Amino acid sequence: MKNIIAFAGSNSSTSINKQLVTYASHLVEDASVTVLDLNDFEMPIYSADRDINTGFPKEAIDFVAHIKNADGIIISLAEHNGAYSSAFKNVFDWASRVEPKTFFNKPILLMATSPGARGGQSVLQMALDRFPRHDGNIVGQFSLPSFGDNFSEGKITNAELQDQLLIALEEFTKHL
Ligand SMILES: Cc1cc2nc3c(=O)[nH]c(=O)nc-3n(C[C@H](O)[C@H](O)[C@H](O)COP(=O)(O)O)c2cc1C
Repeated sequence: MKNIIAFAGSNSSTSINKQLVTYASHLVEDASVTVLDLNDFEMPIYSADRDINTGFPKEAIDFVAHIKNADGIIISLAEHNGAYSSAFKNVFDWASRVEPKTFFNKPILLMATSPGARGGQSVLQMALDRFPRHDGNIVGQFSLPSFGDNFSEGKITNAELQDQLLIALEEFTKHL
């Protein structure tokens, strides 16, 4: 059985991206899914001084180990001011210091959602550009616009968007 890790790029206890990534990851058949929570990887803000003086936090090493041990990764990024949330950026910065090839060439389904009509397209584009530079093998992408209109009771309610997600998941599954 394949091991999938899934996480949202958010530390909100009511994260819409966590709701989406939880839903999407459990649609993958015959896979063991672990949904990570960025709150379990909260670390001091990355600084070059901390890096030199205290080394890598255990949480950063653990996060990289989760990626290394996975067969595939499903991520849904929260968009803050057109970019990563601070919570995700901090984990990413520390993780990239632990291992510059942070994603170990694992297949990634990259998603984003937001309450707005653009569905986190800016942060999605940012990660599409950046993750491959850290050996991120992005094999599918999906953006869910207007979360409040298109997601309810743990599911996508818009049939067209649901079909788009299933196509992206099929491609992801082929690469596991
Ligand atoms: C500081 C801040 C900046 C935000 N900037 C954006 C933005 O640029 N684009 C957007 O679509 N939503 C933006 N939002 C709204 C977030 O998409 C919304 O809070 C969403 O719930 C975040 O995802 P999460 O629930 O998974 O944390 C912003 C929210 C905050 C708090």
